[in-house]
Amino acid sequence: MNDVIELPVIGRVEEDELQRRLQEKKPGQKGVWIQTLGCQMNEHDSEIILGMLSQMGYVEVATPVEADLILYNTCSVRENPERRVYGQLHMLRQLKERNPDLIIGICGCMVQQKAELERIRQSLEHVDLVFGTHNIHRLPELLHKVRVTGERVIEVWHEEGDVVEGLPVQREGKLKAYVTIIYGCNEFCTYCIVPYVRGKERSRAMEQILAECRSLGEQGYKEIMLLGQNVNAYGNDLPGGENFARLLDEVNQVPGIERIRFTSPHPKHFTDDVVEVMARAEKVCEHVHLPVQAGSDRTLRRMGRRYTREQYLRLVEKMRAAIPDLAITTDIIVGFPGETDEDFMETIRLVEEVEFDGAFMFIYSPRIGTPATRLKEQVPEDVKRDRIYHLIEVQNRISRKKNEEWVGRTVEVLVEGVSHKDPSKLSGRSRQNKLVVFAGGQELIGKTVDVRVVEAQTWSLSGELVG
Ligand code: 5AD
Ligand code: SF4
Repeated sequence: MNDVIELPVIGRVEEDELQRRLQEKKPGQKGVWIQTLGCQMNEHDSEIILGMLSQMGYVEVATPVEADLILYNTCSVRENPERRVYGQLHMLRQLKERNPDLIIGICGCMVQQKAELERIRQSLEHVDLVFGTHNIHRLPELLHKVRVTGERVIEVWHEEGDVVEGLPVQREGKLKAYVTIIYGCNEFCTYCIVPYVRGKERSRAMEQILAECRSLGEQGYKEIMLLGQNVNAYGNDLPGGENFARLLDEVNQVPGIERIRFTSPHPKHFTDDVVEVMARAEKVCEHVHLPVQAGSDRTLRRMGRRYTREQYLRLVEKMRAAIPDLAITTDIIVGFPGETDEDFMETIRLVEEVEFDGAFMFIYSPRIGTPATRLKEQVPEDVKRDRIYHLIEVQNRISRKKNEEWVGRTVEVLVEGVSHKDPSKLSGRSRQNKLVVFAGGQELIGKTVDVRVVEAQTWSLSGELVG
């Protein structure tokens, strides 16, 4: 999850610097500055948005002052990123005053909520363009309308349409690619806004997915991340008996692709045939992100997760027995309404028992319209905070321990580039999705190499190139 956005330059750029930058832009070229919050689904939507904008002559720029179009692709899963978007959009008023031709747009999950849409309409009158998650493909037409009429255009669909294929994509990297396999979610976990803003489950046709994967293989992509809010519900809504296990098997045949990952599966849908394909298909990586959310049966039931602690633990056991060196990561929410100290300690005990390689840990955030907001016994903020600190401390210790188990072993690393932390080194991911940092020449970028792990940190491994 990428909740952090920064608006570094607003208010600090001098007027003459702004004028200089605006004059520098090549004639006919337009700049877009896009901010993406939330999950990989949103990141991929932004890649599609940039694909469409690129066909309209837009190039991505590094700062909002250089932009002719500023777009916020928003997230509603928790309150914090929403608050930030409002804060930033209010600040953009100044920029719009200085550059009246600037178009400001907002899209993504936030605008799918009727109350937020109304708030945007009322309080952000300098926002020119609003579109939702179901009509991204309409962007070129909507943007054209704003440009021609100079008027504000708001178009949000509250019903999902058919899956739209064939949209252009401007991918962020050249090695790893996102491929959506299923849109929406039918689970309606009681805390979660996603089913309301992303609609019901709609699987893409398997042939379409495979055609995209083959094309990625031909373009030199090495790794595919199959995406869906509930990725292993793939095929349930299709007539032909397609399912997630079969899809994994098929993607495993795609030439050029070396690694396959997926996110996020629901434990309840994790059938034995998927475990079996993961064990057998050599390109499917030894990593699963398996959101548990809570460790107490009482909380799981109230969350509407439809599995018990025991069932989750048995699934983990089964996967570990079938897939050697499997890394398991998870999502956990603390402070769900009615969570007692004892319930929370059950979560801690589950975390200790499973020993996750890593976890995204969240404080429960009430989302208007979801059933959990109506539950009595909301947990006080200070209790939630104490619990998250406690959980983070336990998990960090475990993450480090799990990483230490790799010291002395050799891992296969897909080299992604120069390390952000230490530009004299390279970095990449092991099949277990561990970040590995090591010394090597830049010609290795894009290659798969063997690295012997020398040292473990909480969030990464350091090693030496082998051979
Ligand atoms: N509050 C806190 N965390 C949430 N998530 C989803 N909804 C909420 C909420 N209302 C978390 C879940 C999910 C992840 C993507 O976000 O852990 O798996
Ligand atoms: Fe939200 Fe539950 Fe669906 Fe995940 S499975 S997107 S948590 S409703």
